[in-house]
Amino acid sequence: MCGIIARVGEGGAVDELLTGLKNLEYRGYDSAGVAIPNGKSIDIRKQEGSVDDLVSAIDGNEPVGNIGIGHTRWSTHGPPTDENAHPHTDCTGSVAVVHNGIIDNHDELRDRLIAEGHEFTSETDTEVVPHLIERHLANGDGPEAAFRSAVDELDGSYALVATVEGGDALYATRNGSPLVLGIDGDRHYLASDVPAFLEFTDDVVYLEDHDVVVLNGDGYTIFDSEGRRLDRPVETVEWSPEDAEKGSYDHFMFKEINEQPVALGQTLSDRFTGDGDVDLGIDPDRYVDVDHVHFVACGTSYHAGLQGTHILTRAGVPASTYRASEFVATPPPLNEDSLVVGVTQSGETADTLEALRVATRRGAKTIAVTNAPGSTAVRETDESIFIRAGPEIGVAATKTFSSQVATLIMFAELITRSMTGSGIEDFEEIVDSLRSLPDAVQRILDTSRAERIARFYAGSEAQFFIGRGGAYPIALEGALKFKEITYEHAEGFAAGELKHGPLALVNADTPVFAVILGPGDEKTIGNVREVQARGAPVIVVAPEGADDALAVADEVLTVPDSHPIVASVLANVQLQLVSYHVAELLSRSIDKPRNLAKSVTVE
Ligand code: M6R
Repeated sequence: MCGIIARVGEGGAVDELLTGLKNLEYRGYDSAGVAIPNGKSIDIRKQEGSVDDLVSAIDGNEPVGNIGIGHTRWSTHGPPTDENAHPHTDCTGSVAVVHNGIIDNHDELRDRLIAEGHEFTSETDTEVVPHLIERHLANGDGPEAAFRSAVDELDGSYALVATVEGGDALYATRNGSPLVLGIDGDRHYLASDVPAFLEFTDDVVYLEDHDVVVLNGDGYTIFDSEGRRLDRPVETVEWSPEDAEKGSYDHFMFKEINEQPVALGQTLSDRFTGDGDVDLGIDPDRYVDVDHVHFVACGTSYHAGLQGTHILTRAGVPASTYRASEFVATPPPLNEDSLVVGVTQSGETADTLEALRVATRRGAKTIAVTNAPGSTAVRETDESIFIRAGPEIGVAATKTFSSQVATLIMFAELITRSMTGSGIEDFEEIVDSLRSLPDAVQRILDTSRAERIARFYAGSEAQFFIGRGGAYPIALEGALKFKEITYEHAEGFAAGELKHGPLALVNADTPVFAVILGPGDEKTIGNVREVQARGAPVIVVAPEGADDALAVADEVLTVPDSHPIVASVLANVQLQLVSYHVAELLSRSIDKPRNLAKSVTVE
């Protein structure tokens, strides 16, 4: 949801800024721009469209200078136009600013600034910031003081980086939007996310809300909001640059689908202790008095959360999963014996963060289940569990879903032991399947018939996905992935609900993907017959040994025999492949689906 990159140090800025923008395009791709002070003025190049469009536009006429800021936009205030593209400037063009987030009081600030004679050229909330800096500079403040004073006037969420003509520095801060500092000897970077500069450095400082950073040729200094110097730890990220590159794949999504055996290996590695217990880096004793587990999440992570509730409920532990925005709108009763678990691969999703804040305010215990060390979710919760899937660049979540579900299976065992004194009854069987999971996923990747099925059904009127119990979240996830990257109509339903309304939509041109994983099979097989009676072709996704389920199918996508809970991850891999191949056949923008961004940092 908007990507920021900035750099200071030896060498020209433009190439590294454009590389950073390219690496950040998954956060927004409506427009892109850079601003580079060149000693005389600030050279600004920005336009509607992709980073590649910007690269072409400045090819042969690159801005010169060794400090600069860049931005790729996901529109919130104002449509994607050249004027609304970042960086934004003041009246004189001597201040340039990039921003991620939303300035809540921008209307009021804009009215005041206009009344004072400032002229605005965009419809964005961001543009108030350079004008505020201009105003404080005019009042005699130096650039750093002017930046601080401008920030003091803002309400809302922001990561901001500014530069001022005539200086050699960048000024940055954050409040509720991510910003990370990268350090490579004399060169320094600021970005919304580590992959932006991963090919330059893996040494990072995760900035905290209200930190103010000043970067110049001498290095970096971090201050708190009162101007006192801070010492934040430098951490080395474990991701390699190749993890965040497409390599020989056409799409990040396909690469990440294929990375799932490795990702799952990382997720599961060293998690089981000798006595059959689970170690997720959290303190199990904190949770002995918990009386209810609430998962809060959005989109794909919400579906992983539903699977968490399924596993806990079947183990006799009270649990619920909420769409984070609805949890905020109508919070359930919470107290110190409530555990609220935010499931969020990015750790920066605004709805999920707000749900966790509601939980904290009401005294609940909180845990983040995330792929992002240093994220806001990690900082704002009591404890964190890392899913260790490696960087995911495609907007469509794939490997992070598999790693989330694998993590939640282990979490369910840990929390069941804490809350009830004994673990999940069939956990040994589940662990056996978990240990085989990376290999089982690899078998699917090597043998899947998903491409053939995609070719057959790509032009259909709509696609429906049904499942019962632990297969229901997979039906929802299958449909979400399908609509997200193919732009075709797809819906997921609880198999038993079809006859209560959705069956009216079913016809010979609406293939139904039936996920059948074990418990309740006969009932779902009955539901399959109901849709077949209305002419719909049914693709059954089921374990190899599930003869009854496979027998009713018009087409099959099989998964290696596993415990049904673990088989849900495998079934989902088959559905990921179907969506991917349909999107490819329809020539969709697979890694950057229209209107979407990877990390949604507005509510
Ligand atoms: O970073 P998060 O896991 O919190 O993101 C939540 C959703 O925005 C995300 O899962 C979204 O639904 C996926 N991009 C869908 O593939």
